[in-house]
Amino acid sequence: RKRIGILTSGGDCAGLNAVIRAVTRCAVDVYGWEVLGICKATHGLMTRPPEAMPLDITKVDSLLTMGGTILGTTNKGDPFAFPMSDGTVVDRSTEIIEGYNQLDLDALIGIGGDGSLAILRKLAQQGGINLIGIPKTIDNDVGITERSIGFDTAVNIATEAIDRLHFTAASHSRVLILEVMGRDAGHIALNAGIAGGANIIMIPEISYKIENICDHIKKRQARGQDYSIAVVSEAVCTESGDVLEQGHFADCRLGGIGQYLAEQITEKSGAETRVTVLGHTQRGGISSPLDRILASAFGVAAVNLIAEEKYDRMVAWHDRMVTSVPIADAIKDYCAVDPEGTLVKTARGLGICLGD
Ligand code: F6P
Repeated sequence: RKRIGILTSGGDCAGLNAVIRAVTRCAVDVYGWEVLGICKATHGLMTRPPEAMPLDITKVDSLLTMGGTILGTTNKGDPFAFPMSDGTVVDRSTEIIEGYNQLDLDALIGIGGDGSLAILRKLAQQGGINLIGIPKTIDNDVGITERSIGFDTAVNIATEAIDRLHFTAASHSRVLILEVMGRDAGHIALNAGIAGGANIIMIPEISYKIENICDHIKKRQARGQDYSIAVVSEAVCTESGDVLEQGHFADCRLGGIGQYLAEQITEKSGAETRVTVLGHTQRGGISSPLDRILASAFGVAAVNLIAEEKYDRMVAWHDRMVTSVPIADAIKDYCAVDPEGTLVKTARGLGICLGD
C-alpha cells in the first residue's frame, strides 16, 4: 500500500483539478493507496508541519470541471535561491526535502510547466524523491509532449473573444487588437487566430513590419472589408526588436505590445484601433472537454507509472496516446512555434497576415 503526494506548481490553468481528481480516483479506488495533496507547491513542504491535505474520492468528486487548483500554487521563489522577506536569498532545498520526508511518501506527482518540472527534478535528485511529472501550461511550450494541460481551454477562451470582437469591429469599422498570453511562444495566438478567423496574427517567432500590417488592413478596406482583427502574443517585440519592459511601454502582461501596435497602426494607416488584453481569463474558468480528457489520461498514467516504480519520468501526449519520457529530456526541449510548420503554413494559405 503506497502513500503518494501530489502538488501543483507554477501558474494555474484549467484542468489542474481534473488531474488531482484522476490521480486520487485511480490511486485510491484502483490501487487502494493513500493520497496527500501538498499545498502551495513546494512552499507547503517548507512549512512545519508540512502543509498537506488527505485526498479521498468524495473530496475530489466535484473537481472535473473546476478551474484553478484546490491545492493552491505559486510561481514565486526558486527553492535553491529563495528570496526571504529580509532581502537575503537562501537555498531552502534541504528544508523542502525534510518536509517531504516528514510526510512519509513513496512518490510525488508534480504538475508543472518546464520551469517547475526542472526545479522539482533537481529537488528529487538531491533528496532521492521518486518523482513523476505531469505537463501543464497554457503556453504549450513544454518539449516532447504535443499537448499540455490548460492549453486547449486557453485557446477556446481566446477564440471566443475573437468571435465576439468580429461583430463590434465590423459595426464600427475598426481594427481591434487582441493581446493574448503564451509567454515566449506564439501557440495561443496562432491557434486561436486561425480558429477565430483573425486577419492578422503576430507571434514572437516571426518578425514583422508595421508597414506590412498596414498594407493588409488597407487591402481589406479596398475590397470593402473595413475592419480587421489582429491577434498578438504578449512576447511580440516592438518593430525594432525592443522587448517592452515594465515602466517603459508597461509590462507585456499589462497590455504593452497591444497598445504599442494600436498606436503604430493608427499613426501609419489612419485606422481607428482598440485593444483588448485577455490576461488571466485565459487561465480560469471551466476546463474544455479536451483538457478534461487529457487531465484524466495523464493522471491515470502517472499513477500507473508509480505502480510500475518507473520514476523521473513525465507523462506526455504523443501520436494519439499517453506515453512517458525522461523529465530531463522534456525540460531541455523547449517548444516554440515552428515558423515553417503546418499551422503557420495554414495561416499563410488562408491569406492571414503574419506581418513578415
Ligand atoms: O506561463 C503561463 C502564463 O500565463 C504566461 O502565459 C504569462 O506570461 C504568465 O504566466 C503570467 O504570469 P503571472 O500570473 O505571474 O502574471
